[in-house]
Amino acid sequence: MIRLALTKGRIEKTALEYLAKAGYDVSELDEDKKGRKLLFKVGDDIEVVLAKAADVITYVEHGVCDGGIVGEDTIMEAKASVYELLDLEFGKCRFALAGIKGKDFYDGYNHKIIASKYPNVTKDYFNAKGIDVEVVKIDGSVELAPILGLSDAIVDIVETGSTLKANGLEVYEDVAPISARFIANISGIKMKKKEFDKLLSALSEVVKSKREE
Ligand code: PRP
Repeated sequence: MIRLALTKGRIEKTALEYLAKAGYDVSELDEDKKGRKLLFKVGDDIEVVLAKAADVITYVEHGVCDGGIVGEDTIMEAKASVYELLDLEFGKCRFALAGIKGKDFYDGYNHKIIASKYPNVTKDYFNAKGIDVEVVKIDGSVELAPILGLSDAIVDIVETGSTLKANGLEVYEDVAPISARFIANISGIKMKKKEFDKLLSALSEVVKSKREE
């Protein structure tokens, strides 16, 4: 038996579609059946829990879930010690540095302030560039920060770009690509090698067939 943590919300539906295509019975998680339940049986050998992205990492890191499906954004921010077994190639978007349209971010010598829901990703990005910035943590709708004058720019997820556009902002530079990943607990994968191999090869086949669609 393998216990998997799946990220609730945005990537949940596609993750379940991939498990179904991989041959697992995900019917307990059907929208009209699941109600407020959080723990489900998926076929005979998988148990699934639904959790918020950051909690997926916590459960997998602590080994109470053997593996999980979560976005690379959350893995990067958590600096998680987990194995990334497979890029599932869905939920594709990117981290970008963005701000008021037409402004030159690097202009001037002033100390830059960056707002983000992802302070670790932001710090790592600017550290790698050797630029010292102040990072202000914002919990949502981070696009407001440069508009209100709180920050010089934001580091945030860009998918279609429409939120930036609707608010007079633009991407200054790309920070990192993001997609959903199949992750595993570091010792769990050794203890349950057979189960992981089966699931990993089934999911790899689904990724391959999706690529060819
Ligand atoms: C995310 C992200 C951007 C938006 C990007 O926010 O933080 O705001 O989606 O998508 P787009 O490029 O397709 O417009 P989310 O919807 O998760 O809401 P939040 O900012 O309130 O967390």
